[in-house]
Amino acid sequence: MHMDDDVISALEAIDPSRADRFADGSIHPLMKRLRQEAPVHYCASSEHGPFWSITRHADIREIELQPERFSSSYQRGGVSLIQPPGVESLVTFIQMDPPDHGPRRQALVPAFSAQEMTRLSENIRNRTSDLLDQLPRGKTFDWVSDVSVRLTTDMLATLFDFPWEDRHLLPEWTDWIVSLERIQKEPQGRMEKMGEMAAYFLRLWQERASTPEAPDLLSRMIHSGALGHMDAPEFLGNMATLVVGGNDTTRNTMSGLAIAFDQWPEEREKLYADTGLIITAVPEAIRWQSPAAHMRRTVTEDTEFRGKTFKAGDSVVMWYISGNRDEAVFENPDRFIADRKNARDHIAFGYGIHRCLGARLAELQLRILLEEMASRKVIVRRVGPVVREAHPFLTNVLSVPVELH
Ligand code: HEM
Repeated sequence: MHMDDDVISALEAIDPSRADRFADGSIHPLMKRLRQEAPVHYCASSEHGPFWSITRHADIREIELQPERFSSSYQRGGVSLIQPPGVESLVTFIQMDPPDHGPRRQALVPAFSAQEMTRLSENIRNRTSDLLDQLPRGKTFDWVSDVSVRLTTDMLATLFDFPWEDRHLLPEWTDWIVSLERIQKEPQGRMEKMGEMAAYFLRLWQERASTPEAPDLLSRMIHSGALGHMDAPEFLGNMATLVVGGNDTTRNTMSGLAIAFDQWPEEREKLYADTGLIITAVPEAIRWQSPAAHMRRTVTEDTEFRGKTFKAGDSVVMWYISGNRDEAVFENPDRFIADRKNARDHIAFGYGIHRCLGARLAELQLRILLEEMASRKVIVRRVGPVVREAHPFLTNVLSVPVELH
């Protein structure tokens, strides 16, 4: 029994990062309590050290807009509460502040332009419709491994122009990078897998460096001014960001969609009857799932915030999973509502200078999945329990057993 299992327990005793709550969903009522009673909350002791929690939508946005005061830098501990012991934080632009961050981000912006999305969309549609056509009917399968993982892995392989026959390595690597269990119990094995990923990507780097620039993400990086001279640790840090950022987040939203449609079939019916609603259903699925539960910042100078004092060096955790269910912004926030008018106000992609670079691509994949499901009137029925990972950084869905009708 943990100290804060009881609803009447003292606010000070609450540790919002406790992993088991992310597996059983009890994180949501806890976050609601914090939003109401302690929207800027201090946890003095946790597995990840002491930290502040920011749980209201407006407060998260305010912090995101002050990168000088709330740093993302890997040199100060980076953007995740989870920091494997003895492992350096990854050198990558998501974990950099101005002036280092901007030019690196800019080098990759063209890869996510509207024209690029148009170029990629035919490929995404073909893959998605083939996959849906091949799913078994009237037979149990796992929506996570057979739909979410396959679609996002193929997308990532396309984006990197990654050797097609080896693409199964991509989700294997991300699982090794993010799995809390492996971080804690198999640190050596994890390092070996990361070494394997490093060697593979360095080989691709050498190949692409010696051939003319191509539209794939790897080639763009290598031939760009700001990223062309990366040393090996930064190159690998950026690859890890892109592989995890591009894979797990979109994957978990696809899994969330299957869960939401099963839980609220009337929302699925609404959408299938009027596919114009896909425009709100996509951001709504992202809001409801909140694939990145949080991002962390380090305070650079003593700062007053909503009557509390943050000291230089303090950890501040912005809980997107909570801001996205803030009743001050979203009515009936725990429910998936396909035609929610303000779904786009979610902060699942962050806000400010680090706002997700891949947002357009994630939305495109989800839009096409919904369009293709709607055109086939696919009915996904859950036939077993949803399994979620106990993970306070990524809201990983491990399994959703389903049948199609
Ligand atoms: C639903 C899917 C996704 C969600 C919820 C998501 C969420 C986020 C969040 C919360 C941030 C950081 C914001 C911050 O620190 O303030 C971020 C940054 C980033 N994301 Fe995503 N992401 C998604 C999909 C993708 C995809 C598909 C890619 C690429 C293939 C991608 C690449 C990145 C990159 C490169 C950054 C760093 C941007 C920067 O620091 O300037 N993400 N994402």
